[in-house]
Amino acid sequence: MATIRLENITKKFKDITALKNVSFAVEDGEFFCLLGPPGAGKTTTLRTILGLERQDEGIVYIDGENVNKVHPSRRDIAMIFQNLALYPDKNVFDNIASPLRARELEEEDIKTRVVDVAKKLKIDWLLEKTPGQLSGGERQRVAIGRAIVRQPRAYLMDEPLSNLDAKLRLKMRVSMKELQSELKQTFVYVTHDQVEALSMSDRIGVLDEGVLQQIGNPEDIYRNPGNMFVAKILGNPSMNFIKCSVGKEAGAINVKHSSFTLTLEEKALKKAVQDSRNVGSEVTLGIRPENITIFVEKQGDGTVPAEIYVTEPLGNKTIVDVKIGEEIIKVITQAAFPGKPGQNIWLRMKESKFHLFDTESGNYLFHASEDSPLRVN
Ligand SMILES: Nc1ncnc2c1ncn2[C@@H]1O[C@H](COP(=O)(O)OP(=O)(O)OP(=O)(O)O)[C@@H](O)[C@H]1O
Ligand SMILES: [Mg+2]
Repeated sequence: MATIRLENITKKFKDITALKNVSFAVEDGEFFCLLGPPGAGKTTTLRTILGLERQDEGIVYIDGENVNKVHPSRRDIAMIFQNLALYPDKNVFDNIASPLRARELEEEDIKTRVVDVAKKLKIDWLLEKTPGQLSGGERQRVAIGRAIVRQPRAYLMDEPLSNLDAKLRLKMRVSMKELQSELKQTFVYVTHDQVEALSMSDRIGVLDEGVLQQIGNPEDIYRNPGNMFVAKILGNPSMNFIKCSVGKEAGAINVKHSSFTLTLEEKALKKAVQDSRNVGSEVTLGIRPENITIFVEKQGDGTVPAEIYVTEPLGNKTIVDVKIGEEIIKVITQAAFPGKPGQNIWLRMKESKFHLFDTESGNYLFHASEDSPLRVN
């Protein structure tokens, strides 16, 4: 059992600052995902928790204890790496048993623990095989088994599924989640795959260029992204961004695009837009592809004229690239979508699902909701 807390961690490699003032706390038994693109600082974060990297500034706490001066081997945390290295000549049993043998446990104890772990991971029928005789997913389970068998206080996992093919990843995602709920132990799981992060985590920390952008549960981060980076990294296809400008009509502030105008009834929104930007300046409107509906016939108020650019049928749905003014945005629609490129269409965007961002800083200005929608005119 363990809590892990990072307080103002900064880590430099010569002129590269890999982590900038990173702080977060992982609760006991929590499945915490660190999500970020290549080079974001994810591995560096894990290595710092483990003690393989020494931070330049800040403190790592494990179970409330400052472990800055505690040797990695005494932090009692297991790390599972992306490129797992199993002993090729040893069978699965001996691979899993190796950390226990290193500790000189009784052979009887070892057997009980290895078999127990192998059952948990559903690889107990493979104990006599060598790694060369296993599939990628099975090898991954053996590597996980070797980490679990030590019964550490917490687990750090560095993209453990990234070497597996898509189908296997899906299967392993479910087993990782099952495993964690069974072990009820603290997991810090690193990935650049937003689906993994959304589907497995209790909470996600989004990291970019060494800066922690936002922390929250998957639903909250998805619904209320703090900035355009977070908005973009979650969701597939990702959120559409539409360039707009702040306007003013009859004394009321609005958000203008060449194809539509959004009126701002909500006080908070007026304040957000007015405070940050003057009339005439640029803001970015965000809307996710699943929150737009396509109509082939003109509808009533609130629909926006557009044109089909490309359609991409994907079996269970179709992604349609749509031209709205000079911009192309994506819409998720039904499988058998009849539209053709070049065809004029109308879009209805869910008024409770808009986001407004400051174009320059990328920070959010406003998230619309059922209670405070943005009206399309
Ligand atoms: N030992 C090192 N020496 C110099 N620079 C390093 C070292 N380790 C990491 N870096 C740099 O620090 C930054 C963060 O690297 P890190 O490996 O933590 O990223 P990451 O998020 O794990 O990326 P990936 O998804 O590619 O694994 C990168 O710019 C990287 O080049
Ligand atoms: Mg990495």
